[in-house]
Amino acid sequence: MKNIILFLSILISLRFAYSKPTAEPDSALLFAYSTTKNNNKNGLHYAWTIDQKKWHLVGPEHSFVRSDYGTWGAQKRMISPVLIKGVDNKWHAIWQLNEQDGVFAHASSDDLIFWYRQSYPQVLVGDNVSKPEMSWDKTNNQYNISWFSPKSNKHFRAISRDLKNYEDVGELDADSYGKQRLKVNLSGVEEEGTLHKVAWEVIDKIINAQKLEVYKSQLHNERTEDDIVRFADLKSVSVDFSVDLNNQKRISDYLMGIFFEDINYAADGGLYAELIQNRGFEYHTHDKKGSDPNWNSFKSWKLEGKAITHKIDTINPIHINNKNYVTLSVTANGGALLNEGFDGIVFRNGQKYDFSIFAKNIKGDISSLLVELLDEDGKVIAQQTIKSIGKKWQKKSLVLQASGAARKGILRITPQGRGEIALDMVSLFPQETFKNRKNGLRKDLAETIAAIQPRFVRFPGGCVAHGDGIHNIYNWKNTIGALEERKPQRNLWGYHQSVGLGYYEYFQFCEDLGAEPLPVIAAGVPCQNSSDRGAGQQCGIPLDEMDDYIQDILDLIEYANSDRNTYWGKKRAAAGHPEPFNLKYLGIGNEDLITDIFEERFTLIFNAIKAKYPEIIVIGTAGPFNEGTDYVEGWNIADRLNVPMMDEHYYQTPGWYIYNQDFYDRYDRDKSKVYLGEYAAHLPGRPNNLETALAEAIHLTSLERNGDIVEMTSYAPLLAKEGFTQWNPDLIYFNNEEVKPTVGYEVQKLFGEHVGTHYVNSTNRIHSTDFKVTNRIATSVVWNENNSELILKMVNMLPVTVDVVIDTAHLISFDANIEKTELSDVPSSKIAKPSKSVVDLQHLNQLRLQPYSLTVFKLIKK
Ligand code: AHR
Repeated sequence: MKNIILFLSILISLRFAYSKPTAEPDSALLFAYSTTKNNNKNGLHYAWTIDQKKWHLVGPEHSFVRSDYGTWGAQKRMISPVLIKGVDNKWHAIWQLNEQDGVFAHASSDDLIFWYRQSYPQVLVGDNVSKPEMSWDKTNNQYNISWFSPKSNKHFRAISRDLKNYEDVGELDADSYGKQRLKVNLSGVEEEGTLHKVAWEVIDKIINAQKLEVYKSQLHNERTEDDIVRFADLKSVSVDFSVDLNNQKRISDYLMGIFFEDINYAADGGLYAELIQNRGFEYHTHDKKGSDPNWNSFKSWKLEGKAITHKIDTINPIHINNKNYVTLSVTANGGALLNEGFDGIVFRNGQKYDFSIFAKNIKGDISSLLVELLDEDGKVIAQQTIKSIGKKWQKKSLVLQASGAARKGILRITPQGRGEIALDMVSLFPQETFKNRKNGLRKDLAETIAAIQPRFVRFPGGCVAHGDGIHNIYNWKNTIGALEERKPQRNLWGYHQSVGLGYYEYFQFCEDLGAEPLPVIAAGVPCQNSSDRGAGQQCGIPLDEMDDYIQDILDLIEYANSDRNTYWGKKRAAAGHPEPFNLKYLGIGNEDLITDIFEERFTLIFNAIKAKYPEIIVIGTAGPFNEGTDYVEGWNIADRLNVPMMDEHYYQTPGWYIYNQDFYDRYDRDKSKVYLGEYAAHLPGRPNNLETALAEAIHLTSLERNGDIVEMTSYAPLLAKEGFTQWNPDLIYFNNEEVKPTVGYEVQKLFGEHVGTHYVNSTNRIHSTDFKVTNRIATSVVWNENNSELILKMVNMLPVTVDVVIDTAHLISFDANIEKTELSDVPSSKIAKPSKSVVDLQHLNQLRLQPYSLTVFKLIKK
């Protein structure tokens, strides 16, 4: 950012070399338009002219604002925008959104550069609002909106006094419409838009804003692969470094946490140790919106033998929430039902497995079930029989011990006898789970997560928390209690959530990790990119249903924190946890589009929690980026309501992290605290390699420095199953057999293992005047008063060594044995691992940081 400020001053002094008129005019004409390119998704462009002959395209075709209506792909379109300057002295833009909906879009701006929140008023049902126009009616003190509707082949109008509420929709005489747009030939292409006379200053600012974007983008897109040229003359860099132990500030104890979302099969087939896929026969073609005919209630199951058939029944389920079950008809011995798990089940020799099933005999004489574990060759490696199956649903359990191993094993259930039998909730868990919990978590994965030493766990998302459409908003109440009574649902990432890993299990996991729970609940609005039944952010939970929705949130706090005699406390105790879980933090909203609809609902929820549970730290949301409309509008809400903490999300290039180390240094210390809830460095192709990991390490040093206002951080997403991944990069990859932590994971773990209670000031004199060099060296020093450790972290993202001379005079009170951990390799490395050694103070006197490295020193107070 310092570089950007420098750039701005250069801009002002040199006045950019765009082809501006020699004598600067007082005013010019600004043409505002959008194109049909990219299916109308490129947003609002400007061109300017003095004489209406020579046109100057800004960018060209730089997008000053894009439409945020509806889902990615088909929507997010800006068609035929119209701009006017309102009586409020703001610019107002309206535009058409698509070819079917009876809505249009509105946004406003002070300077034509930054645009405030968008709204999508619905003024028609069953017909489209095409090419809306807008004007100010001085006489009636109102805005007149008019448009054409193709189905009815009629023109309509509506009025608005505040551009929030629209009324008096009625037919309009065709002659009164179509006056606002004009056509301009821009570089040989005729574009339609609106023309405005503005002061030259306005044009100047627009041009400079676009130039600044280009400059920032060049910096942010710097890649290590170009370092060889960029730093061709650089041999090595020297740094004088000294630590001022007397200059410290308290930082957050919760800086390093994890973001758990059921994306990439992180839950079912992942962390949740259940080995049976689709155990409740609840998969539905709609989970994948009908795109896969094999994704149905029998997914992952098959029948063996000719004498057996199946049907999915719903007539008399175990519980209304879990409505499907399978009915098997057996006409001769030998027919069996098989489950292949999540692409095969891994069985380990000697390991014990808890099997359970709900069964009822419908007709005939099937009173027992032979349950077998098979290896990939069909060899039986464990066998037991479920007996005494009655006429009513009953849960039956047994333990199977594998006498062999399998990588792609199968579960086989063979009804003994003939007739009809109904089965549901077929479950198989390894007995060995994380902390040996029943209905527990996969041990190797959970232990890999635990090694980061996360101080908090955010769950259940991410977008999963706010869902694809209102009906898909994650409802914590559906995820607790007996497994057969939970309500599975579609996962917006295109698969299924059994919710076997539900709120109780999340809380238990947090406790087992020694981490604070941080649930995130939708702010009464679904994901802004929703495509399922409605176009996302235009809808929110109807206001007359908000009381119930808010009550659910208050109930969650009671479930987590109240004593066992309360209604919800009793449920927690019944699940096995009489003591409260001590919930302190609650996220409301997930990087939502900040609209009036959002603000209205967020405010209701926030005020209700504050009134009933003032001790709960509510975390608001500031959109999906580190700047722009949602970020600014989200923070404005935080200021207005005094929200204690704000959740920020940004996935950025390594260059962004390199050049924005002062991002939080510039934050106002009197405002809300920050939870950096989702971040990661992204490169084209989305690898997780040393280049991305070191960029994250650079950012983490600045997060430690700002640990007085940045309270929590979590890399996102956490888990990804190979072959079942919707999002890259992730922190930990895995398959059924193996866990594969990434280089980014090693960085998170190094920071998690080496946290401080205080940030210690240090001086870092880099002998270089090149900001591209100085920005690639980052350091941070923390003191941990709990274990008397002083931690030095040093990142070198240069292709050359960095020679650091540390003034060790201040460090003589520390033990001579210093633990040094170094993570270094070529930037493209996906396999770099930290190596440990023991050094002494002398080593720090003449320290050499390897090219592309993170080095951590642990000094223990004598
Ligand atoms: O982390 C993956 C996704 O990124 C999250 O679900 C969402 O919040 C963000 O867009």
